[in-house]
Amino acid sequence: MTPKILFIGGGNITAALVRGLIANNYPAQAITVLDRHPEKLETLKNSCGIHTVQSIQELKIQNIQTDLLVLSFKPFNAKETCLELSTWLENSQNPNPLILSVMTGIQIKNLENWLGNKKSIIRAMPNTPCLVQAGATGLFGNNFVSENQKKQTEVLFSAVGIISWLQTEAQIDDIIALSGSGPAYFFYFMELMQNTAIQMGLSPETAIQLAKQTAYGAAKLAMESPESVEMLRKRITSKGGTTEAALSVFQNGLPDLIQKAMEAARDRAIVIKEMVS
Ligand SMILES: NC(=O)c1ccc[n+]([C@@H]2O[C@H](COP(=O)([O-])OP(=O)(O)OC[C@H]3O[C@@H](n4cnc5c(N)ncnc54)[C@H](OP(=O)(O)O)[C@@H]3O)[C@@H](O)[C@H]2O)c1
Repeated sequence: MTPKILFIGGGNITAALVRGLIANNYPAQAITVLDRHPEKLETLKNSCGIHTVQSIQELKIQNIQTDLLVLSFKPFNAKETCLELSTWLENSQNPNPLILSVMTGIQIKNLENWLGNKKSIIRAMPNTPCLVQAGATGLFGNNFVSENQKKQTEVLFSAVGIISWLQTEAQIDDIIALSGSGPAYFFYFMELMQNTAIQMGLSPETAIQLAKQTAYGAAKLAMESPESVEMLRKRITSKGGTTEAALSVFQNGLPDLIQKAMEAARDRAIVIKEMVS
């Protein structure tokens, strides 16, 4: 039987996951989204045909059951919402669904404290390209997660991109520094390239279009080529040529900057995690 999925929170990440599932022929009647803002639910309901509710109270009233409970709301009100969900779960027909959290900074031990011990819990760290089915999601589960529950999780996140199972929960912080925050690094690089091209004399329209297409083309080539990115770079860097001239400038400082930037993201993730727990 198709596992029933309940999303708590109807923001961007939920919308991306629901759209991905529907695009992969997951039955809409097996999906419920809860959000207190009816306008967020309306768009999803109209475009995807899923069931929607506005409160945890309503889950009780409508006797909603779930196999997969996705926690997809901002971490700052996580404790309060989880405690309310815990009471609802205790009284529901399936008190032990797989709990899947996409919340940044909320650790498995926090969720165990709020939702109960011995629950199957997976943390997922997706990124915004999930919105265009090109996401990258890191996953880590506790010891109670079964193989079947891992497969259910893979169905969910594979619908919006690629997935990678991690060996430790601490690696979620590394994933935040790599793929979680990573899209913004590339956006920034593209922004700087397009601004420089405009300064050099190209029209904004041309600069913006060509910067985006160059990033897209390079990423597509890297994904589709059997060669490493290092080899792809070397192949287009002729001795004494234009690319070599640019790269020799980058090589004077950029490796160190990238390392510092990613370490700053990882360290911030650790601080946020400690603030929450
Ligand atoms: N965006 C990313 O790239 C990204 C990447 C990885 C992880 N994440 C994580 O994904 C999670 C979801 O992000 P998002 O941007 O989709 O969140 P969001 O836009 O804030 O959506 C969450 C929604 O759930 C509602 N909600 C929260 N608690 C509720 C409750 N008890 N009853 C009814 N409605 C409730 C919120 O309403 P209110 O606003 O009124 O509270 C909000 O409309 C966050 O924890 C974030 O850290 C995001």
